[in-house]
Amino acid sequence: MKPLHRRGLLAAGGALALSGCGRGRAEASDPQTSDLQDTAAEPHSGPPPGLKTLAGFPIGTCVSSGLAEDAAWSALAMSQCSQVTAEWEMKMESILRDDGGFDFSRADRIADFARRAGVRLFGHTLVWYAQNPPALKRIDGDRKAFDNAVRNYILAVAGRYRGQAVAWDVVNEAVAEHGEGLRDCIYSRNLGQEDYMLLAFQYAREADPDAVLLINDYNLEITPAKRATFMRLVERLLKRGAPIGGIGTQSHIDIHLKPGAIRTAMRDLASLGLPIHVSELDVSLRGDRMDFRPREQKLAAQAERYREMIGAFLELPAAQRFAFTTWGLRDKDSWLRRPPNAGDGTDAPLPFDDGAHAKPAFWALADALRG
Ligand code: XIL
Repeated sequence: MKPLHRRGLLAAGGALALSGCGRGRAEASDPQTSDLQDTAAEPHSGPPPGLKTLAGFPIGTCVSSGLAEDAAWSALAMSQCSQVTAEWEMKMESILRDDGGFDFSRADRIADFARRAGVRLFGHTLVWYAQNPPALKRIDGDRKAFDNAVRNYILAVAGRYRGQAVAWDVVNEAVAEHGEGLRDCIYSRNLGQEDYMLLAFQYAREADPDAVLLINDYNLEITPAKRATFMRLVERLLKRGAPIGGIGTQSHIDIHLKPGAIRTAMRDLASLGLPIHVSELDVSLRGDRMDFRPREQKLAAQAERYREMIGAFLELPAAQRFAFTTWGLRDKDSWLRRPPNAGDGTDAPLPFDDGAHAKPAFWALADALRG
């Protein structure tokens, strides 16, 4: 599990390999003055429009099997969204049993929800350095067994949802924390630093010839050096024949991110020419600095980050707008409200509040989509 404020640990920038990159975390705006740039949201009333009906591209949220069976959540999701991503129940930790067999019970409940709701299913994720289950750890060091296990796993999982999952995050979070190269993990140690990714993409393609296969990572807006490393990795993998059909930028950001950083990142990422998935957007009210502004001002600042994200996404050529996903809908369902990320329990990173009322962040999205 990653710590919440990964970016808080980051050293400033580093040399940029790509010209035109934005600047690093250390240059985020001063919370005391940035209010001036964060215009208060227009007053909005009435029932919130469905974002999915306003957008010309899929609008997603993450989902758990519990939420999928919660009537209030389902109604909200079905009014707003045209795509769902399993928050954790399609990860290896949920599917791979101790005895090496597979447990699809929770993943299937999510797939069933997507089918019933008539929304796209987005698969997340096949290969991830984190939360490795015991059955994978047991074969650490045995290259052949490890390769077989990874291939069997990917064939089983992506194969099971073939024809339903429109896409998969095949490789998640492969770049090292600060962007200084690739992450050392159980996969890289057993199958090679970059080779494991190539294999994972090949196995995913074997499992599902039609799904769009993506590589997904975080802090790409916050840490230009990491973005540069990520982009070079994608280029190398493509050159080696990996069937990468899109890139995911998780976009777990906070209200202190400097205005302009999102747009710079989006343009930069778009230069690869691949479809882009804003895959896990949330905008924390916290951050790694003291911020004594009243909550309303923080919510207005949050709406500005949402506005910049959707605006930058809308500026992409239509063919590059893969989908726009928030990591939840209601604040109370956010991973930033659960241990170990809960903090003081007051964070509110999503477009709807605990009672499912639309926040300024929601209206920023709706207004941008309405043009
Ligand atoms: C998080 C979930 O939100 C948590 O509930 C879970 O326990 C850990 O993972 N990047 C990712 C997601 O790719 O899978 C993570 O989801 C959040 C960060």
